Amino acid sequence: MEDFVSLEDWSKGDLEALLDLAQAMKEVVRRPIKKVPTLRGKAVANVFFEASTRTRNSFELAGKYLGADVINFQGSGSSVEKGETIWDTASTLEAMHIDAVVVRHGSSGVPQQMAHRLTVPVINAGDGTHAHPTQGLLDLMTVRERFGAINGLRVAIVGDVLHSRVARSDIEGFVKLGAEVRLIGPPVLMPEGLTGPKVHIYQELDQGLAGANVVQVLRIQRERQQSGQIPSLTEYHDRWGITRLRLAHAEPDVLVLHPGPQNRGVEIDSDIIDGHSAILQQVENGVAVRMAVLYRLIGAEGVSA
Ligand code: CP
Repeated sequence: MEDFVSLEDWSKGDLEALLDLAQAMKEVVRRPIKKVPTLRGKAVANVFFEASTRTRNSFELAGKYLGADVINFQGSGSSVEKGETIWDTASTLEAMHIDAVVVRHGSSGVPQQMAHRLTVPVINAGDGTHAHPTQGLLDLMTVRERFGAINGLRVAIVGDVLHSRVARSDIEGFVKLGAEVRLIGPPVLMPEGLTGPKVHIYQELDQGLAGANVVQVLRIQRERQQSGQIPSLTEYHDRWGITRLRLAHAEPDVLVLHPGPQNRGVEIDSDIIDGHSAILQQVENGVAVRMAVLYRLIGAEGVSA
């Protein structure tokens, strides 16, 4: 059984095949009648120990569009509140003959440990600051749709890199597919150990944006920050916020992404979100990508037309 815990485990060819599959799934998502019987008889458990709007709902729809039965488990309201461990919770769900577990947790490493303990495939829906591989994949898909290919592009990732699992999965995916990645943000929010031949750090926003084809704007993760890491949200916006003026340094056809949820007027201005971003395309692609991953891990041969 394969798991989908990190893009690190998947080759360039694997990722390209998943993107091709996601593109075919997008055609299914756009049909008036979306349901196909590909995963009929399969059961998927969405196990979320952290808040989510996009990931949880798109995994639920992805499973349902493919004909699977989907259950949604949240820590609150469950026996976790009575002291049950997450491992006993996962084993309990597995005993109900589910075919895959999708897990989000605030601690890095939980999906990996769950994958060691369970016999069914485990899909990481975001763990701590470690990885968010389906977000990485949907970002790759959105960029590939715009530019046709990823090789040779300059991708700027701006903001709170320190706390961002999205940044880590994006770096992994974009570098694997041949892009140059620029990490831009305050030194206090820039972790060590991410740089490499294709990954460089910039401490000036305009310099990092110069000639960028893609700008991925990261959410300021106030819930994970220690106090004092940024002076104030206004100052953060003034120095690092993505505005029309700052974007003028990038390529004229720059593609602006944000994984969501957005802090409007902090890391990105509303007019960029509403008039000059691919954020809702990312959301749409999230459903297609999650269908592709579910199909790849628990599907049979061939997507029914
Ligand atoms: N991008 C992302 O993971 O969003 P949610 O937290 O809403 O799932």
